[in-house]
Amino acid sequence: MSNYKLRECIPEKNPNDMEQLLSAYLTIWNAPENIKFLSLTGKPFTEPQVREWFSKHLSSVVKYLIAEEASTDKIFGILVMSLSNLNGVNIGGVGVLPEYKGKGIGKKLIQESIAVAQKEGFKAIGTQVYANNFRMLKLLLSLEFMPVRMEHNMGFDGTDFVHFKKYLQ
Ligand SMILES: CC(C)(COP(=O)(O)OP(=O)(O)OC[C@H]1O[C@@H](n2cnc3c(N)ncnc32)[C@H](O)[C@@H]1OP(=O)(O)O)[C@@H](O)C(=O)NCCC(=O)NCCS
Repeated sequence: MSNYKLRECIPEKNPNDMEQLLSAYLTIWNAPENIKFLSLTGKPFTEPQVREWFSKHLSSVVKYLIAEEASTDKIFGILVMSLSNLNGVNIGGVGVLPEYKGKGIGKKLIQESIAVAQKEGFKAIGTQVYANNFRMLKLLLSLEFMPVRMEHNMGFDGTDFVHFKKYLQ
């Protein structure tokens, strides 16, 4: 895909970002083929809960990186990352609309989060993925993230988490 842009969305400050991101987030995170990889319970993400997160993300240094169509501003990919001087950088979730998968968008969003971590002076970036999420596992390995530990029975169906880290030059 060529005609799209990546940018940071700041819903806490920008009402347009709030409405755009809220609608895209609920659609992407609750898509039946996505939710099993993005939720701990399998229950849908609700608008009041997500709005609450978006209205307070700056104090917890959570950034939302988005991929959007250049002409229409339609958001079709979102990456959520947290940056902490104490705990480091973590990708909390990344999701792409089902009809936009397999076009390199997830990879671009993760590469952008790596660039953000580097620019902010961090030495590593981490994330955690369900052990049966083969697409994401493959993607992380292709970007030279290393598996560092397992956390057992984290999913509602008993699936384990694989924790990954990429060390930055
Ligand atoms: C995981 C996810 C974010 C990847 O985004 P994407 O835009 O589909 O992925 P990309 O097109 O960037 O593909 C990147 C890599 O994924 C792998 N991949 C892509 N399509 C694939 C497919 N159909 N089957 C298997 N692997 C595939 C490939 O390794 C690919 O790398 P390559 O192009 O160098 O071969 C997306 O599939 C998604 O939203 N999944 C549901 C939510 C989720 O699982 N999030 C991750 C947990 S936080």
